Amino acid sequence: MTSPAADFAPFSKTHLLGISDLSPLDIENLLDRANAWADRNALPDNKHAILRGRTHINLFFEASTRTQSSFEIAGKRLGADVMNMSVSQSSVKKGETLLDTAVTLNAMRPDLLVVRHHGSGAVELLARKVANCAVINAGDGSHEHPTQALLDALTIRRHKGRVQGLRVAICGDIAHSRVARSNILSLSALGAEVHLIGPATLMPPAIERMGVKVFRSMEEGLEGCDVIMMLRLQRERMSGAYVPSSREFFHYYGLDAKRLARAKPDALVMHPGPMNRGVEIDSVVADGEQSVIRDQVEMGVAVRMAVLEALAENLDRTKDNRKPGE
Ligand code: CP
Repeated sequence: MTSPAADFAPFSKTHLLGISDLSPLDIENLLDRANAWADRNALPDNKHAILRGRTHINLFFEASTRTQSSFEIAGKRLGADVMNMSVSQSSVKKGETLLDTAVTLNAMRPDLLVVRHHGSGAVELLARKVANCAVINAGDGSHEHPTQALLDALTIRRHKGRVQGLRVAICGDIAHSRVARSNILSLSALGAEVHLIGPATLMPPAIERMGVKVFRSMEEGLEGCDVIMMLRLQRERMSGAYVPSSREFFHYYGLDAKRLARAKPDALVMHPGPMNRGVEIDSVVADGEQSVIRDQVEMGVAVRMAVLEALAENLDRTKDNRKPGE
């Protein structure tokens, strides 16, 4: 089976480090490619040879269920040789160790390197040190998680037919969330109106400069929304108590059926996972008819296939342009 990529404009980037590096056209390009993969993944024959001969390494310094497994499935579906390197956080010291890692990786000559790291900016640093290899940010600290934002946009687009003009609420722990940051950038670039809802302690200072509207009250912020994205409390990035208790957080900021009714009747309920039921979201809502949380996971594979394919094409072009002996 051939790649759907022939139908799309070339993707111009060498790496995917953040949504902030992408133009609206770049985002649409990746979403169009991912949409084609999502359709193809539903067919019985979903194994391809597009990345045959390519080495794809997943290098995860932080725990992951959805991102790592979907990158692995995506790479294998496209025919790459996929290797998972899980690095225990306790064994890693930033800076020198990352550079040592880059030297080790260069010796393995990967073509595609998917990296998750607890340090904001660590993935970009690694990208500067590896040679002839496309680097993909699978989440760096509280900075960016670009493929999560792309799969969220694809999920919205497939359910609503568009992102432009929709009102999207992102709720909860915005301050520590790379998912929130990447989604603010991507949804704004695609023309959505973004509402951020959360307590002052979990809202980054001056976040309004990103063109969003900030609300302290769920009831006010959810009014008329087409999409609601819930975020968990990211305690692993907190250095103190930002909320009095989980119970109190749910009381003020948890999404239950009553609060959901403030949004449009056909509003989508989304969550990047992992969910903490009874803390940021009630089970009735998480498992309810408006929830598209499982669709997000499915779109994750399609988006990661699109990203791997687009970056691999670019590697080919770069290599073609290289002078002999270079
Ligand atoms: N959404 C997300 O990044 O989930 P994982 O931490 O399981 O990869």
